[in-house]
Amino acid sequence: MPAPVRRLDAASTPISAFAADVVAGLTATPKHLPPKYFYDHAGSALFERITQLPEYYPTRCEIDILQRRAADIAALLPPGAALIEFGSGSSSKTRILLAAAKNLGAYAPVDISAQFLQQQADALHREYPKLVVRPVAADFSQPFVLPDAVQIMPRSGFFPGSTIGNFEPHEAAAFLRNAGRILGRGSLLIIGVDLVKDTQVLQKAYNDAQGVTAAFNLNLLARINRELGAKFNLDGFEHHAFFNRERSRIEMHLAAIKRHRVRVCGECIDFRAGETIHTENSYKYSVESFGAMARGAGWKPLEVWTDARSYFSVHVLTFG
Ligand SMILES: C[S@@+](CC[C@H](N)C(=O)[O-])C[C@H]1O[C@@H](n2cnc3c(N)ncnc32)[C@H](O)[C@@H]1O
Repeated sequence: MPAPVRRLDAASTPISAFAADVVAGLTATPKHLPPKYFYDHAGSALFERITQLPEYYPTRCEIDILQRRAADIAALLPPGAALIEFGSGSSSKTRILLAAAKNLGAYAPVDISAQFLQQQADALHREYPKLVVRPVAADFSQPFVLPDAVQIMPRSGFFPGSTIGNFEPHEAAAFLRNAGRILGRGSLLIIGVDLVKDTQVLQKAYNDAQGVTAAFNLNLLARINRELGAKFNLDGFEHHAFFNRERSRIEMHLAAIKRHRVRVCGECIDFRAGETIHTENSYKYSVESFGAMARGAGWKPLEVWTDARSYFSVHVLTFG
């Protein structure tokens, strides 16, 4: 009988890899940083606040779809399956599935934000003492190993939050192929995908009135200061987020207010006034364009549901 919850033992990103990615991104033209580094403990907590904002429709729309379809999803999950969640965050949407799927074998949340992950896994275990919980602190864009207890069970994947939209489309396809290898032939993937919609609605969602998304974006520089000893002045940068219709993506940037220089890991990084660091893309798909990408990556669409306004979609796919 496996122990119900396991302690995490390793950080998901070595500091040397963080430093190398930061220096590579800030010395490139144009400057950019990988969005996965938003998520240290402070970043994960800020993301949770974003999900509560009135402008941030994706969480509410996805929860609405999952609540309406939880019984349908539960009926599709094989008895005794391990649910593997990619980018689990607070596991709040998982609780909707757990309430409907009573015969899951285990739950393995995978997240890069190791400390936050451990806290959420502990909380989930307190709520569901009989559920085997196996958190995995890993970067899901790199190969990682599933816990032994989960390897021997049939596996189903859960990837909510439209986190797939943070990948470039070719990376998203590679992720889906890799997820298929990890989950196995015949497995299910339940995946939330944000949809193209009115530009105003999109832009408001990433430019909230309370400035929480701006704080989330700026936390990336604060994290570089904390962990790599840099001295970014956060007041010297502005949050920019806009919809790039041609590329069908929201872009987030940090724009330098004036010309200045910052030392990062021994490198001098020069900023022109108005120069930006591109920190995140959030690609928006149509139901059809996402289905086509999934098929190209070896997944067959089984079901797709949207909310009443067709702002958001949840797809159920099967591999192979
Ligand atoms: C957009 S949030 C979604 C959180 C949650 N699934 C939801 O639907 O509200 C993205 C989540 O994925 C995690 N994440 C981002 N990039 C990651 C990566 N490369 N590997 C593992 N986890 C990652 C973040 O820590 C965060 O919890």
